[in-house]
Amino acid sequence: MSSHIIQVDVFDLVVFGGTGDLARRKLLPALFYRERDDQLPPESRIVGISRATLNRKAYAALVEAALREHLPAEHIDQAHLERFLGRLHHVRLDVTGDRGWQELTALLSGAEDRVRVFYLATAPGLFGPICAKLADAGLNSRRARVVLEKPIGRDLASARRINDEVGAVFAEDAIFRIDHYLGKETVQNLMALRFANSLFEPLWNHSAIDHVQITVAETIGVEGRGDYYDRAGALRDMVQNHILQLLCLVAMEPPTTLESDAVRDEKLKVLRALQPIAGPAVALKTVRGQYRAGATNGAVVPGYDEELGTGAPSETETFTVLKAEIGNWRWAGVPFYLRTGKRLPRRASEIVIVFRSIPHSIFAPDAGSARPNRLVVRLQPNEGVELLLMIKDPGPGGMRLRAMPLNLSFAEAFRARYPDAYERLLMDVIRGNPTLFMRRDEVEAAWAWVEPILAAWQERHETPKPYAAGTWGPSAAIALIERDGRTWHEDAA
Ligand SMILES: NC(=O)c1ccc[n+]([C@@H]2O[C@H](COP(=O)([O-])OP(=O)(O)OC[C@H]3O[C@@H](n4cnc5c(N)ncnc54)[C@H](OP(=O)(O)O)[C@@H]3O)[C@@H](O)[C@H]2O)c1
Repeated sequence: MSSHIIQVDVFDLVVFGGTGDLARRKLLPALFYRERDDQLPPESRIVGISRATLNRKAYAALVEAALREHLPAEHIDQAHLERFLGRLHHVRLDVTGDRGWQELTALLSGAEDRVRVFYLATAPGLFGPICAKLADAGLNSRRARVVLEKPIGRDLASARRINDEVGAVFAEDAIFRIDHYLGKETVQNLMALRFANSLFEPLWNHSAIDHVQITVAETIGVEGRGDYYDRAGALRDMVQNHILQLLCLVAMEPPTTLESDAVRDEKLKVLRALQPIAGPAVALKTVRGQYRAGATNGAVVPGYDEELGTGAPSETETFTVLKAEIGNWRWAGVPFYLRTGKRLPRRASEIVIVFRSIPHSIFAPDAGSARPNRLVVRLQPNEGVELLLMIKDPGPGGMRLRAMPLNLSFAEAFRARYPDAYERLLMDVIRGNPTLFMRRDEVEAAWAWVEPILAAWQERHETPKPYAAGTWGPSAAIALIERDGRTWHEDAA
């Protein structure tokens, strides 16, 4: 996978929140992998920003410890490590105050012709103030870009406010809103699957497809991020961004090119075609749940409230299912069942396209029934694509039907390390390619669809339905799909 690597332009990358969890766990390891592939020009610098008092050496030690914690030891060789640590700087700065900006300006001065990336890995409430300070300090140079981490707001109004504040300093084409799902190899593979094969397109509509299931299941709980999560919940944390982006990639019309606006225009059309779920429909088309004590990964785990440890019962959902419908010719009558949750039985992100049943069976009843074909795109783990086909059970016992997968496992097919999404996305920011980033109108259209659901949940004061950790959510989630005569993919296996 390292055969096509082209060095990017010289850059200065400034990470606001350079000592935080995201920087230590994802951004710095991703950059180190790009170092290992010699993709970073020698002069490029990485500047961590935080309120901590850290000189260059101390910041390098912190970053080295993070790399050693999060990467396999055999991936860290001394030569690349030294080169990487040599790029690091740290500036102590409270983004809400006035001190420290002069040091940052001095560090970056003289390098105005470089690509300059400001990565905002801080709370979203700080995005606007940071951009205003960058403008005051004159740091928004000609080739400057800003990267915004999720969440961009917690509703439409706050998303608009953040977009306005950032947009007052940076032009839209210099704003990179990360949805790291879009950087996953398998998500991009969805584009290849749909648009580099002629097999699927004639079938990719309501006449051949019965319904679509998109599941993002986690086995973990809130893992020390309870403060953030309890204010967000599953709908805001997963559906508004990642799952709706996946839905867009499945449902969009073929863009004319892979050029960023061509793809994003098509995704936007899907978001705008989503039928609103509001008022009484919310009770029929949505379920929210919250985990109680149970067992995942073979271990007994506490319930959500105990894990939060605030002492007060929380009303936040850790699980949700939605029945989404797209009002256009291609998808009329094809529900998209969206499901996500924490403390579920297995970690899985997958898209299941369920085709229609055969129109007529020629087989005797004892042959068993022909199950509808399914195309399963596994985003993680065991990335791959599986097509479930009906075959004859081998043997002389007569005609017996059986479902078997045509299974393409990427790990087996390629035997290469799968790069983390952040590796690709960070290089795309430096290259100035926004295809895999969300445009302002997309983010706002996604919030506009989600908001009435949030409002109805709040109005109804309905507490989330309990489910035991290690199960697939409350029974209402199963009832929601079974009412339509369908089953969740794992139950159909
Ligand atoms: N962690 C993840 O996996 C993840 C995933 C997706 C999105 N995100 C988003 O990414 C952002 C960062 O998350 P995180 O988990 O890395 O948070 P975190 O661990 O709390 O780190 C926050 C970082 O920001 C710095 N910081 C906070 N206030 C500051 C201020 N006033 N001035 C300067 N620096 C300040 C902190 O350093 P000091 O306190 O020393 O100043 C620290 O480096 C959040 O918006 C989060 O929702 C995180």
